[in-house]
Amino acid sequence: MNISNNKILITGGATGIGFGLAERFVKEKNTVIICGRRESALNDAKGNLPALITKSCDLSDAGGREELYNWVKKEHSDLNVLINNAGIQQWMNISDDNFFQRAKEEITINIEAPVHLASLFQNLPSLEVIINVSSGLSFSPLSKVPVYCATKAFLHSFTLSLQHQLKPRNIEVIELIPPALNTDLGGLGIHDAYPPVSGFIDAVFDQLKQGKTIIAYGTSERMLNAGPQQLQQAFSRMNPVE
Ligand SMILES: NC(=O)c1ccc[n+]([C@@H]2O[C@H](COP(=O)([O-])OP(=O)(O)OC[C@H]3O[C@@H](n4cnc5c(N)ncnc54)[C@H](OP(=O)(O)O)[C@@H]3O)[C@@H](O)[C@H]2O)c1
Repeated sequence: MNISNNKILITGGATGIGFGLAERFVKEKNTVIICGRRESALNDAKGNLPALITKSCDLSDAGGREELYNWVKKEHSDLNVLINNAGIQQWMNISDDNFFQRAKEEITINIEAPVHLASLFQNLPSLEVIINVSSGLSFSPLSKVPVYCATKAFLHSFTLSLQHQLKPRNIEVIELIPPALNTDLGGLGIHDAYPPVSGFIDAVFDQLKQGKTIIAYGTSERMLNAGPQQLQQAFSRMNPVE
């Protein structure tokens, strides 16, 4: 994709990786719209980066996703890039009382929302690029976040098919595969020990400039390129027997 002169919607763009992408895309002379549930997070993001356009939305609800699409169609009909970045991560165990309820929440935000948004936004005549944010955990799961990892494996697979289906229409589909990074994903403090978002954002822009459509970095790059034996070793390392 061209990295300048786009109009881009980043879901979950007020914080973490989404905000890192928003900052860099603004710097590269793009118009960037961010959306999310918390008005306070959207306002903080706009305070730090006044060029941003903000829109509050709840992607857990099909009506909220349709409303977002209809708003873009009416107010920003020249939007050409959709970035499905919003996601949640929940630590849970199959024997928890509320396991299924929480699993459904995660499936809704991490799977239903990007699938539904892709199906809505491909109708936008100006659309040229869809970027989906999966995870290094798509390839080797961390059993503490079992449903999260499975949702990201789904998104990885779905993105490959979407790339193939949309190619004849010249809509480019790109997958970003972050490694573990220091954001508030999963709750305050859980990711504090991991590297800052900035290194990943640098890698994303380097690789976008090279025309890559599957973008990984650090441990996620190793997972993407690992063979079956390396994946088995990674699983054992990440999930020691207690
Ligand atoms: N950090 C990592 O280690 C890591 C690694 C691999 C992949 N990822 C992926 O990177 C993406 C961004 O995560 P992050 O690490 O940057 O965490 P984050 O800061 O928590 O970002 C998640 C964003 O999603 C938004 N969101 C969540 N539920 C939503 C909903 N129902 N409707 C609309 N927006 C919603 C949140 O905003 P509101 O709460 O205001 O709605 C928030 O801005 C996620 O898909 C995550 O799975 C992260």
